Amino acid sequence: MAADIDVTLQGGRTTHVLFVDTIRELSSRLSDYGQRVLWVFDVNSARLFTSLPENNVILPSGEKFKSWSSIEKILSAALDAHLGRDSLFIGFGGGVVCDMTAFAASVFMRGCGLVLVPTTLLCMVDASIGGKSAIDFHGGKNLVGTFYPARDVLISPSCLRTLPESEYMSGLGEVIKHAFLSSAHDLYDFLVDNRKDVLSRDRQALSTMLSLSLQVKASYIERDPEERKGIRQALNLGHTFAHALESIEDFRVKHGTAVAWGLSRAMHCGQDAGVTDSALVEAADSLLTMYGYDIARRIERGRWLDFQSAVAKDKKNISGRVRFVLLEDWGRPVLKDLPAQLVQRNVIAPATVR
Ligand SMILES: NC(=O)c1ccc[n+]([C@@H]2O[C@H](COP(=O)([O-])OP(=O)(O)OC[C@H]3O[C@@H](n4cnc5c(N)ncnc54)[C@H](O)[C@@H]3O)[C@@H](O)[C@H]2O)c1
Repeated sequence: MAADIDVTLQGGRTTHVLFVDTIRELSSRLSDYGQRVLWVFDVNSARLFTSLPENNVILPSGEKFKSWSSIEKILSAALDAHLGRDSLFIGFGGGVVCDMTAFAASVFMRGCGLVLVPTTLLCMVDASIGGKSAIDFHGGKNLVGTFYPARDVLISPSCLRTLPESEYMSGLGEVIKHAFLSSAHDLYDFLVDNRKDVLSRDRQALSTMLSLSLQVKASYIERDPEERKGIRQALNLGHTFAHALESIEDFRVKHGTAVAWGLSRAMHCGQDAGVTDSALVEAADSLLTMYGYDIARRIERGRWLDFQSAVAKDKKNISGRVRFVLLEDWGRPVLKDLPAQLVQRNVIAPATVR
């Protein structure tokens, strides 16, 4: 198993990331937290338990339920179970469950204990670490939330066995993004050398990959816990393109899969803008292709205005400007404005000559 990792966040609060081998070992570690616990699942993550613990809430699955009404269900269940400020909420599921459990824990009795057990790859390498909690509000994604890091995050690669392939590939898109945000090439080399084991979800390979990926995320969030210095924003590499693609495709493309495409587009735009050298662009394209992502995908010409307006709405806009994350080198991100024509020629399908 990978070595545990400590991540220090806002106000010096530390999240302990603990790796556990089997689901049985995970259950036994979780039972150590005692009785004053509320468990939050969704219908799919609850299936990982043969007999569910007492004091639980099982929510429907999906982003559409990342809402106030789910938070009310969690808080009501906590009151019904007579939990208090010294109690603990355990979020057991993907990013939707973990973001909501963290939000509910941050407001219950002005803040109670929080432990997260991510059960999707995306949540293991991204959503569970870094202290951001949120719900969607009035159609806006993650519009209401708090910074509230978990005390512990327990990761068991065994939980990924039941994850649908499309969700697994979505999480892998974020892992590949992390490979380029690291100045060491260790995650990149690992992904190149262990493709078969990574794709077959070999437990040992997963554990090494998760650890390397988390170390990259931790290095950015520790330097900028509340996303105020522009350092943490680097983790949005590929995201401006990804959000616009998700938006014009009505969210039929999974987030991490869109990030994989966005990473490739950010590399090519970076090259076009004279920021990214061709060797780095080739390294990204070859890794993404090796893992089966469709980097040749382009937006139809007639959708350019929709794509452009989705880019403009991206929440990373600062004072009306869209700032793209580009890479000057491995692990050297920069935030840049890009001319619309440059973005257009890198995302839109070339005109067909009749
Ligand atoms: N807080 C952050 O920093 C942060 C970062 C990235 C993403 N997010 C949020 O994370 C959410 C996306 O997370 P996600 O991709 O995990 O989506 P998700 O939570 O919707 O999970 C995806 C699907 O997998 C199912 N599932 C979960 N674990 C399973 C398992 N082990 N076996 C089988 N099915 C399982 C879920 O029920 C769901 O249907 C978004 O709401 C996003 O905003 C938050």
